[in-house]
Order: sequence, then C-alpha cells, then structure tokens
Amino acid sequence: MKTKPIIKKLKFIPNLKNYSSTYKNFDYKKIIKEMTVFPGGKMNLAHTACDQNAMGYRKNKVALYWEGEEGQEMKYTFLEMSQLSNRLGNALKSMEVKKGDRVFLFLPRVPELFVSFLGITKIGAIAGTLFSAFGPQALEDRLQNSGAKVVVTTRELYSRVLKIKKNLPELKKIILIDDWNRVNFMEERKLTKKKAPKDCVWFYELLEKNKQYLRVAQMKPTDPAFMLYTSGTTGKPKGVIHHHQAIVHEMKSAEFVLDIKEDDVYWCTADPGWVTGIAYEILGTWALGASMLVYAGRFSPAKWYDLIQEYRVTVWYTAPTAVRMLAASGASLAKKYNLKSLRHLASVGEPLNPEAVMWGIKAFKLPFHDNYWQTETGGMVIANYPSMKIKPGSMGKPLPGIVAEVVNDKGKSVKPNVEGALVLKPGWPSMMSKIWRRPNKYKKYFEHGWYITGDRAYKDSEGYFWFVGRDDDVIKTAGERVGPFEVESALVSHPKIIEAGVIGKPDPMRGEIIKAFVTLKKGVRPSEALKEQIQQYVKKFLAGHAYPKEIEFMDNLPKTRSGKIMRRMLKAKELGLDMGDTSTLEVF
Ligand code: WT7
Repeated sequence: MKTKPIIKKLKFIPNLKNYSSTYKNFDYKKIIKEMTVFPGGKMNLAHTACDQNAMGYRKNKVALYWEGEEGQEMKYTFLEMSQLSNRLGNALKSMEVKKGDRVFLFLPRVPELFVSFLGITKIGAIAGTLFSAFGPQALEDRLQNSGAKVVVTTRELYSRVLKIKKNLPELKKIILIDDWNRVNFMEERKLTKKKAPKDCVWFYELLEKNKQYLRVAQMKPTDPAFMLYTSGTTGKPKGVIHHHQAIVHEMKSAEFVLDIKEDDVYWCTADPGWVTGIAYEILGTWALGASMLVYAGRFSPAKWYDLIQEYRVTVWYTAPTAVRMLAASGASLAKKYNLKSLRHLASVGEPLNPEAVMWGIKAFKLPFHDNYWQTETGGMVIANYPSMKIKPGSMGKPLPGIVAEVVNDKGKSVKPNVEGALVLKPGWPSMMSKIWRRPNKYKKYFEHGWYITGDRAYKDSEGYFWFVGRDDDVIKTAGERVGPFEVESALVSHPKIIEAGVIGKPDPMRGEIIKAFVTLKKGVRPSEALKEQIQQYVKKFLAGHAYPKEIEFMDNLPKTRSGKIMRRMLKAKELGLDMGDTSTLEVF
C-alpha cells in the first residue's frame, strides 16, 4: 500500500535540523577524536555512557527508572549506577577476570543487568548478553563458543546453566542474584545467609565486599567491548563482536533519530538480550544523559499506556509487532490515558507497514518513525528523522556517516526503484569488528568493497530506501531473528523425527511465524498431540520464541541432489507460488 507522505508540524526543535546538509558535512573522525577522552586516544564506552554523567552535574539525576513484573519500583541515579558497577568491576578483577575475557549475563530485565554490563566493560572485559528465555541448548552453544569465564544469572535461571555446566570447561565462576524479584535496593537486600552452590558467589555479597572506586580501563577505540549471538542460515549462531567506539555511532544516532535530549524520559521496550537493548538502553541514550525507563513485565496494552502516563515518557522506541498489537487493542483504549508527554515515536526490527505508521497518528497524534539496522551494524543505519517527511512504508534515508546503496550481483549500483542487494560502505564506528572464533564467517560479509546486509531493497528517486525482504532464509518473527538451521537441529534431535525443514510464513501480526515441515520415523503416527509435544520440546531446548507455531507432517522433503533440504521449495509450496528452478530437485 502506498500512502501519501506525512509532512510534520513539529512542536519541538529537532536535534537534526537539516538532514541533507548534516549528511554532506558529517565526519566521524572528528567525533571519535572528541570522544577519546583518555591520554593516547583511549576511551571506554562505560565511562562515556555512565561515569561521565556521574562525575558531572547529572550525578544525582535518575539514570534508570525500573518497574518489575509485580509493580515493584526502583530508581538509580547516574552516581549510583557508576558506583555499583565499580564494585562489580572490582569483584571481577578479584576473580582474575582480565582484559578481553568474556563475562556473560543470563538475566531477565533486572537493574543488575545494567550494573553488570557497565562493570564488565569498565575493566576491559567483553560483556555478552543472553536472552532469559534461552533453553539449555541455546545457552550451551553460546557459552561454549564464547569461552565465557564468568556468568551472572539469577537463582531461578541457574538451574538451566547447571544442566550444561559440565560442557563448559572455560567457565570458572557463576555470580548469582538471589530473589531479585522480591527485595528492594541494595541496603534492603539482606545479605543472604545461605551457602552459595558450588562455583557460585552471591551478587550482593560481592558488591558489599568490593570498593566503589575503580580506575576504568583505558581502551583503544577498536578494542572489543561487547558481544551478541545472532543467527544466520547455516551453522550455529555467530558471536558478533563490537568495539568500544561503537558508542560513538550509537550516541550520534540516538541524537539524530531518537532525538534524545537530556531532559527526556526515554522508554525502549527491547530486551538487552538483543542489540537494541544494549545500543539504545545502556549506551547511546545514556551517553546523552537522558533518564531511561525499563519495564520487566509482560506486554499488555493497558499496562504500557499506564507506564507512559505514570513516568511521563517523552521518547518511545518500540517494534512493529508491538505497534500492531496495540492497534488491535483499539485507539479508544489509548485515549483513556493521558499520553500527552509523548513527543517522538520510533520503531525497529521488521517492516513497519504504512497502517502502523498511521495508527500512531490516530492514537497519539504522532507517527511512528521506522528505522533499519542489524546486530552486526551495532546501530541504526537507515532511518526516518523528526525533521524529514515520512513516506509510510519506507525505512528512510542513511544516517549521517553511513553510505548505503542498492547493488546488483556485481556490486554495481542499480537505478532508482530497481530492487537489489542492500549494502553499506564498511568502516562506520559501530560496524562489528569480528565474528568470534570464526574469521571466515566474518569475511563472507564483505564483497566488492561493500558490507552485505543480507536484505533486499530499492531506493526511490528521492533517496528513500524501501525494504523488500531477506536475501536468505533467516526468519523474523515478532522482530526476533531466528536461524532455520537452529530450529531444524532442535527438531531432528527429537526421537520421533527424521528430517525437518523450517521457513518463515507471512503473518499479519508477527511479520512471520515459524513453520516446520517434518518427516517422522517409521511407524510413528502423526497427530495433533505429537505436534504439541514437538513444540514444547523445541521451546525448552532453544527459546520461547524460536519454536514452530505451525508443524506439517510430510512423507518426503524436497532436497537437492547433494541432499540439502530446499527451504525455498517449502516456502513456495506454502505460499502457493511458482516452484522456480527445480533442476536440482531430488524428491518432493
Ligand atoms: C534484520 C536484523 C533491529 C535492530 C536490531 C536487531 C530486519 C530490521 C528493519 C526495518 C525491515 C528490518 C532485517 C535485518 N529489519 N529493521 N526497519 N524494516 N526489516 O536486528 O535481529 O540483527 O535483525 O531485521 O531483515 O537484516 P537483528
């Protein structure tokens, strides 16, 4: 659907006043120089995000408003965040965690996650985050590949780590948060008298024992700082490494796209288990000195509106599936709340359909601003800006400092409105610096001098980019990126399954849902009960979001002559499309 462009009458002065002239004159070298505040051109992203606020006039300003699932509320100032993370940094040092060692966070959205992330990066170690819905297999893949030395988790989640601990020889210590859900801020958290399990220490005991002063490790801008696992089409998830200078682009993009100003109350609904929660909760937005809201509970339209009203949220960053679910709950619900504090809305993660952009106007008198990026890009690369007209359905234009292009197979630019591969010119500050322990995977991202996103798009004659689809089999369900290989591996480990092929099936609410085609062992009778059992199995094994919502039993799966399952054929069959080139097809 094509909708008329939205010309906005802004009631505020945007940070990015003139896109074209800023884009033309933008130079990252100068900005990196300004942000390398330590002698010899060194920096530390935790210092930029937190300590620099804690040392200045913002020290007593609220950095984090936190609300838990059961309505518990906490507040942390920049100074408190800085001191608590110093304590954790000192604790890690006393455990012999050195620069470059990996420390992973397997946590729900608790304040300790933010404290830990800063503490780890302050001492120059690499912080990794893991989504709290991960099951044992997903955890093992990531902790094993990263060679994590320490894991921070809660007592509840610890049982999952325990199941796989024997397969993690590099894991030395586990830091446990006890009863995070029931207690209050540090002073009130009675130090637990219980003995910690083997190889574990209590989080708050560590904080208590360690000093709140720490000399932050002075890092080269290109030293590694944090890592995240993300899925491709083949093989296990890849450990994407980001360096300290990633914060330079995260801060500038938060300034230009989210329009963050220091008196904003900013709410990003993403989980720091994913890159959005790191780049635009901990790093870019704090670096600009804004207060941030984190809600650890489940999605509910009424609760979300209640939070906006209660905390007077001004800037809101969310995802298309959430917008569509809010729309389904009706604009009249939104109208029951006082949401006048809202000034600017943005969305990311999957295509934002024009109806969803327009629904923002209907419910909040503000459009949602779509923007596009990836785990690997470390920050937004294409976006709609407050000062620029929106063409609903378009991702917008490249960020200042980013060169984006649509190219053909040979890496040559195509004409306006012609579809091609979406590529970027390598070298922006937050571009991933490595795939952990898999240098060849990293190299595959670059071709003809471009960074290849793996997405297809076209650019119109005014330079707006329009998303077409993935160039590979990666699935996007409710904004989460799921590799079909991971789901297939989980499926074939089920005792009753022989083979499995997994695809993304278009879904009006979630963008895509996961659909699995499976063949069963001889003598196994297909049934609805079996489908459910398989779903539960994958859920426990991998993660809550990565299970197939639909399962279809087949006698055979389409394969190439070399025996590779052809997901493309399964997708064509599902969508009732032309099968395309079937010359290499073995059976169906
Ligand atoms: C993939 C990246 C979202 C940032 C962090 C998570 C898809 C992302 C959009 C958008 C259409 C989008 C792409 C991309 N995607 N944003 N605005 N419109 N598609 O990113 O999990 O690494 O996934 O998400 O396919 O490659 P991620």
